[in-house]
Amino acid sequence: MNSPTSAPSHRSILIVGASRGLGYAMAAEFAVRGWRVLGTVRAPGTPLHGLAAEQPDLVEIETLDMTDHDQILAVRDRLLGRQFDIVFINGGVVNPSPGDTMAGVSTDDFVHVMVTNVLGVMRAVEAFGVLARPGGVIGVMSSGQGSITNNANGTNDVYRASKAALNQAMSSYAGRHASEVCALVLMAPGWIRTDMGGSNAPFSVEDAMPEIVDALIAQDGAAGLHFLDRNGRTVPW
Ligand SMILES: NC(=O)c1ccc[n+]([C@@H]2O[C@H](COP(=O)([O-])OP(=O)(O)OC[C@H]3O[C@@H](n4cnc5c(N)ncnc54)[C@H](OP(=O)(O)O)[C@@H]3O)[C@@H](O)[C@H]2O)c1
Repeated sequence: MNSPTSAPSHRSILIVGASRGLGYAMAAEFAVRGWRVLGTVRAPGTPLHGLAAEQPDLVEIETLDMTDHDQILAVRDRLLGRQFDIVFINGGVVNPSPGDTMAGVSTDDFVHVMVTNVLGVMRAVEAFGVLARPGGVIGVMSSGQGSITNNANGTNDVYRASKAALNQAMSSYAGRHASEVCALVLMAPGWIRTDMGGSNAPFSVEDAMPEIVDALIAQDGAAGLHFLDRNGRTVPW
């Protein structure tokens, strides 16, 4: 029996961290476009569960906490043999007091952000990258705040450092996989109203997500590493 994402007539995406916010909106937008979506969550009762209940032929769910390497490997093992047009690692966190400097942040908060946004995301890329179709896309949710060039005024020191480190780690991954033909995308989606982005962000999820999805799909076949905003424009390192 075919699992939803293995049906040949539909394109497919694996989204790690799709319970709510941008990850959920990405899942919903791809489903609207007729893609098969496999999204991961950490807990029951999320918006993604509602979407899967509405569209069981298009949306399926795995449970995964990116900070648990054994869970990553177990999900990867369950999915071996399947192929996705896009593998996208979305999940991420910010420290509870984003204004903390390196002098002010607690070691626990620093470690939590780095383990989630860098180590967890890259372990997911390493594990799930093998599931990407040759010529497809392997992407991660970076941030414009990961740009060192554009960091003129500081703020959000820990979060910025985590996304810059993620970009650097993806660059290492790209170097080791230079002979492969997947596009590697670091997505800077813009400042968007979610639990993380807050209510002051200038962009709504509804406005931003179709552009993010368009930008990801446009990278199909574009081998190499790309740090892009949601309109497909290059972001300076
Ligand atoms: N919103 C913005 O303005 C903005 C701008 C630039 C970049 N980003 C990036 O976009 C991504 C999504 O952000 P958002 O605004 O949608 O934030 P959000 O509403 O807080 O959602 C965060 C998502 O990450 C998941 N997650 C957190 N820790 C995880 C872990 N250990 N394992 C698996 N999943 C985990 C959460 O799952 P749970 O529901 O289980 O907590 C949730 O699905 C993040 O990487 C963020 O850094 C956001």
